Amino acid sequence: MRLTIRDIRKMKDSHERLVMLTAYDATSARLAQAADIPILLVGDTLGMVVQGHESTIPVTMDHMIYHCQIVARVTEKPLIVGDLPFMSYSINTEQAMANAARLMQEGGASCVKLEGGTEMAPTIARIVDAGIPVMAHIGLTPQSVNQFGGFRVQGRDLETARKLIEDARAVQAAGAFAVVLELVPERLAHLITDMLDIPTIGIGAGIGCDGQVQVFHDILGLFDEFVPRHTTRFAEIGTAIQAALSQYRSDVQAGAFPTEANSFKMDDTIIATLRR
Ligand code: KIV
Ligand code: NA
Repeated sequence: MRLTIRDIRKMKDSHERLVMLTAYDATSARLAQAADIPILLVGDTLGMVVQGHESTIPVTMDHMIYHCQIVARVTEKPLIVGDLPFMSYSINTEQAMANAARLMQEGGASCVKLEGGTEMAPTIARIVDAGIPVMAHIGLTPQSVNQFGGFRVQGRDLETARKLIEDARAVQAAGAFAVVLELVPERLAHLITDMLDIPTIGIGAGIGCDGQVQVFHDILGLFDEFVPRHTTRFAEIGTAIQAALSQYRSDVQAGAFPTEANSFKMDDTIIATLRR
């Protein structure tokens, strides 16, 4: 049985920290499940770490569905959060509902995530009313990076801090079951966490949140374009992969690979007959 949003509510009540990790493909999803990661986010960060774009803007619904399908196919335990990509939910509520439904029906997501606070609250409410659980995402919302003018910490002054608190309350009132706080000062994120009944899941928001989300490639040292301050590398997999690939190349070039152990035998007499 997959984890449900009911389980997640219980986790907040029992002060159990929520752990979410991005997953985009079969290998990473299987590894995350094997590590007992309870929540997998098929995030539109795949635009950067999988597709090689500089932002999440180019990611489409079809891309998101494709990757959700993969993650859903190879896992049975984690809750799968499908990220609604840029402009797939902000034209109008009908569009948002239709695309949220696609992530569930075609992608196999357990719930959807969308970016935005007070302005998205009516949309969140309609999607939730339709039976689709929604995870909200406020603070630095990367789909609006062109509006923000960069990946900056949000809510540092009184006015923007108040706006963020308003956003958090609005998405909770609209029925979101959890909210991601991205790039928010630690004490503000803690304050918001105390104010809300739903769990907060931080990224660059300090220890005071109810949970944490990180990008697979960031915590494993697989993404070198830039290293965000909110990340810790729990391993240097990128360096290990590059060393292994260099070894592969030089072994093939030197005639050291493949060896006998990697090769298959057949009867000598057949070869002798073929030679004649
Ligand atoms: O797409 C993503 O990976 C995200 C997380 C960084 C929260 O939205
Ligand atoms: Na995202």
